[in-house]
Amino acid sequence: MAASVSPYHLIYTDWNLIETEFDHAQLHHKETVFTIGNGYLGTRGSFEEGYPRAWSATLIHGVYDDVPVVYTELVNCPDWLLLSVSIDGESFRLDRGEILSYERKLDLKQGILSRKIRWRSPSGKTLDIYFERFASLADEHVLALRAQVTPLDFDGLVKVSASLHGYPENQGYNHWEWIDQGEKDRAIWLHMRTRSSRIELGMASKLLVSGTEADLQVTSVPGYPTIETTLRVSPGQTVTLDKIVTVFTTRKVEEPVRASQDKLTQLTSYSQLQSSHVQAWEEAWQQSDILIEGDTKAQFAVRYNLFQLLISAPRDDERVSIPAKTLSGFGYRGHVFWDTEIFILPFFIYTQPKLARNLLTYRYHTLNGARRKASHYGYKGAMFAWESADTGDEVTPRWALPNQPYAEDIRIWCRDREIHISADIPYAIWYYWQATNDDEWLRDYGAEIILDAGVFWISRIEWNPKQQRYEIREVIGADEYHEQHVNNNAFTNRMVQWHLEKAVAIYDWLCSQYPEKATELQAKLGITPKQRDRWQDMVANLWISYDSSTNLIEQYEGFFNLEDIDLTHYEPRNRSMQAILGIEGASKRQVLKQPDVLMLLYLMRQSEEFPYNREILQKNWDYYVPRTDITYGSSLGPAIHAIWHRI
Ligand code: BGC
Repeated sequence: MAASVSPYHLIYTDWNLIETEFDHAQLHHKETVFTIGNGYLGTRGSFEEGYPRAWSATLIHGVYDDVPVVYTELVNCPDWLLLSVSIDGESFRLDRGEILSYERKLDLKQGILSRKIRWRSPSGKTLDIYFERFASLADEHVLALRAQVTPLDFDGLVKVSASLHGYPENQGYNHWEWIDQGEKDRAIWLHMRTRSSRIELGMASKLLVSGTEADLQVTSVPGYPTIETTLRVSPGQTVTLDKIVTVFTTRKVEEPVRASQDKLTQLTSYSQLQSSHVQAWEEAWQQSDILIEGDTKAQFAVRYNLFQLLISAPRDDERVSIPAKTLSGFGYRGHVFWDTEIFILPFFIYTQPKLARNLLTYRYHTLNGARRKASHYGYKGAMFAWESADTGDEVTPRWALPNQPYAEDIRIWCRDREIHISADIPYAIWYYWQATNDDEWLRDYGAEIILDAGVFWISRIEWNPKQQRYEIREVIGADEYHEQHVNNNAFTNRMVQWHLEKAVAIYDWLCSQYPEKATELQAKLGITPKQRDRWQDMVANLWISYDSSTNLIEQYEGFFNLEDIDLTHYEPRNRSMQAILGIEGASKRQVLKQPDVLMLLYLMRQSEEFPYNREILQKNWDYYVPRTDITYGSSLGPAIHAIWHRI
C-alpha cells in the first residue's frame, strides 16, 4: 500500500493516519488531529491513562453553558476515556518509564482510533498495551473502548481502574455541578448538571473483562465513579478490558441517568457494538467517498476532511449546527459561523441532503435570536449572529483581552459589522433547494429565513441621494484585516443583491404555490407588495464598485487608495501580516486576511450575470492573490484560491 510521510511523525495511507512516535511537544495538536466522533459528540485523541496537562475533551452538540466574556461555550463533558493500568504498583503513563515502541492510528474507514505501545516500567517490567476506541455511528449514545494488556517478562498483578470523570474543565473553567452517582449491577453511573444552562447529563459505564478471572469493585469518590479490578497475569498472557459507556442529556430525554442505564444493560458485547459501528461507517462512506487514484497524500487529505465533517454533522438534531472548530477542541468556544453554510454545507447538500437540512433548520430555530439582534441595533427583520450558539443571539465577544497587564483591550467589531452572514445563510438555503427540490422544507422553514433576513436589509441599506444609489456602509467583508470605515464592500453588496433577488423570487413562488403560507408570512413578517418592490429597486440600484475599463472590482470604496504592499518583502515569516504590522498597520494597507473579491467570484460562479466571466476573474486574481496573507491569514483562504487556480 502506498504511503506518504509528514514531518509530524505521521504516515498517511489511503485510509489511515499513523503516528509513529510520541512527542509531548505536540500533545495538544495531536489530540485535535486524532479526534473521533459520531455527529452527537466529539472526543479528542487524549490518552486513556492520562498525561500531564492534557486537554482531554468530549464535546456534545448543544451542551452550552454561560462563561464570562464570550457569553456561552460548548461545555467539556464528563470524560469517559479514563482507564488506568498499573503493574505491581507502577502506573502506566507515557511520561514515565520507557517507550520501546509506539503507534497511534486513526482508521477513517471504520472510525476507530487505536494505539499500540511497548512500554518498560521504571523498575524494568515490560508490557504490550493496546487501546482502541470509537463513538458509535450506529447509536450516537454509545461509546466504547478496549484495552489489551500483555506482560512480556513478568508474573504479577495488573490493577485496572475505569472511571468517569465528572469535573473536566474548559481550560481552567468548570461548568459542572454534581447531582448524584452510584452503582447498579456492577455498572457505574454519574449524574451532573451544567451550572447556568441547567442541562443535566447522565453517563453510565461497565467493564467487561476477558482472558482471565476478574473480580470487579466499585469505588465512589464524588464526581469520579470507578470500576476497579486486579488481575493476576503471566508472560504472554493477554487480558482484554472493554469499557462501554452510554450518555444522554436533558436536551433529549427527561431522565438522562435512567436512559443511560437502560441503554447500557442492552449492551453486552464490544465486538457486536463494533461491527454495527463499522457497518454504519461503510454506509456513510458509500454516500460520501471521493476516490483519488495515484496520489496517496491527496486521497488521504480529502478523506480526512470528509471524516471531520461526517463526525461533526448532527444526524438527529436540527437545533444545533457545526461549530467553526467542529467538536474537536475549545477554539471559538463551539460557536457557529458562516463557515457552516458556505464552506461545509455543499458537501452535505450533494451527498447527504438530510444532514444539510438539519444544519439549515438550526438557523430557522435560531431566528428569534436573529430578530433580537436586529431590534437591539435598531433594525427590522432577522440579523443573524456572526457567532451563534444555542439561541441565535450574538455571542461574538465584544472585547479580546490581552495577556499583558498594560496592553489595551481590543474591540472586536465582527459582531456589529460582519453582516454578510445574513446573506450567506439565504445563499445556502437557495442551493439546498436547487439541489433537492425540497419544496416543503422551503415553504415551512427556508422561506421565512430568506424573507425575514430580506426585511433586515431593507432597514440596513441606505439610499445615497447624491449618487442616486443604494449603499451598505460600515461593514466587515470576508477580509477581516479591514474593519473601520469599510463602505460598499463588493462581497457584501453583491451577496445582498443576490439575496434580495432570490427573496423576490421566493415571495412570488410562495404567493403562487402556497398562497396560505404567503399570507401567513406577510402578516408575521410585515411584508407588503410595496416592500417586494423595494427589494427589486434595491437589487437594481445597489452599488458595486467595479471598473469596466480595468475589469477590477474594488474590495471596498477607497481600498485602492490604501498604501500598497509587497508581501514578498516580508518573507520568510511565520506570523500573520496582522501580527507583523499590527491591527492598524494592516488596516491601512492593501493586504487581505483571506479572499474577499475572489471569494465573491467563487460564490457567484453559477450566476449568469455580473460579475463572473473569465476576464474579470483573471484580472482580479492577478491583483488580489499577491496581496492576500494566504498562509497565515485564515484557514478558509487556501481552498478558495485553490479552486480558482485550477480554472
Ligand atoms: C475568519 C472567518 C471565520 C472564522 C471562524 C476567522 O479567522 O476570518 O472568516 O469565519 O475565523 O473560522
